[in-house]
Amino acid sequence: MVVTIKSISIFLFFLGLIFQGYCKPCSLGDLSVKKSKTGVKIQGKPEWLVTVTNNCHCGQSQVILNCRGYKTVEPVDPNILTYSGTDYCLINYGKPIYKQPVTFKYAWDEAFSMSPNSSQMAC
Ligand SMILES: *[C@@H]1O[C@H](CO)[C@@H](O)[C@H](O)[C@H]1NC(C)=O
Repeated sequence: MVVTIKSISIFLFFLGLIFQGYCKPCSLGDLSVKKSKTGVKIQGKPEWLVTVTNNCHCGQSQVILNCRGYKTVEPVDPNILTYSGTDYCLINYGKPIYKQPVTFKYAWDEAFSMSPNSSQMAC
């Protein structure tokens, strides 16, 4: 009997650990934005590949990046990136980003520093 109670409490302890880990809310810091040069030139401007990764187990929707001054000579699918015209870029048309990274390419003289500005957790 004592043994059973002990093993149940050990089981519950580990269940609690797993649950705690699973329920940990996501944060903006779980989004990473990486850029690299593709080596291709478009209208004489270098092309940049941007990868937006969500490192949380929950989806994140309404992902907005800071992208002040964003310009491109290569058209980017608005379903992937919509520029507000001022400071922001909406990623994935607001649809949640899960484990599968979202990528897009643009071409301009310099790479813009894009960092996450806000998102909504879809846990
Ligand atoms: C989001 O954008 C606003 C306006 O540019 C800025 O003041 C704020 O610091 C940004 N937040 C983050 C987390 O980058």
